[in-house]
Amino acid sequence: MKITLIKYQALSALQGQQVLQIGLPDTQKKMVGDIHGGLHVLSARPSSDIQGCVLLVDEVPRGFFVLKRRSLLPPWAQGRTATLHALMIDQHYQGLGLGKACLHRLPQWVSELWPEIEQLKLAVHPANQTALGLYQALGWTLIDHPATPAEGSELQMLLRLR
Ligand SMILES: CC(C)(COP(=O)(O)OP(=O)(O)OC[C@H]1O[C@@H](n2cnc3c(N)ncnc32)[C@H](O)[C@@H]1OP(=O)(O)O)[C@@H](O)C(=O)NCCC(=O)NCCS
Repeated sequence: MKITLIKYQALSALQGQQVLQIGLPDTQKKMVGDIHGGLHVLSARPSSDIQGCVLLVDEVPRGFFVLKRRSLLPPWAQGRTATLHALMIDQHYQGLGLGKACLHRLPQWVSELWPEIEQLKLAVHPANQTALGLYQALGWTLIDHPATPAEGSELQMLLRLR
């Protein structure tokens, strides 16, 4: 299994169609939305402050996430922080280590993409035990008392890059 992380805009025309096939079961969609919502946020401007990222398995898109910085940061993040959104692995490819592979590559990926970034933050639904366990296993820590609460009742997590 060849695993590659690439920018959304670097997808071929065929891969651009295939990325739309990344699917989640309804239970997960209720917590995190779907690929269409994830792609929609990429129309935000300035485009320099948002990046769609695609995980290819043997050249076929099977995972997706979005990074934001600067003017597009949500209210619960500021400064030299990038935020992670809409991480999803296609339902038929979950439990194979692909989510872990995404997060394992993330620090290096962000450092090359946006070298000024010092930390990553995300918001996760408290019922999303799979995601919570995954983030914690990869070194993310829960933020106990955020100055500004995350959207809804989501928990915030932090990963320092340096
Ligand atoms: C969360 C998600 C990205 C994980 O991706 P994945 O490729 O399935 O995860 P991995 O196979 O890399 O597994 C990583 C860890 O997650 C946990 N995990 C994975 N599948 C699990 C399952 N079905 N039940 C419980 N824990 C599970 C395990 O702890 C696993 O670690 P281990 O291999 O040491 O046991 C994926 O389930 C997903 O896309 N979920 C829907 C979208 C979502 O919730 N995104 C997060 C938004 S904050």
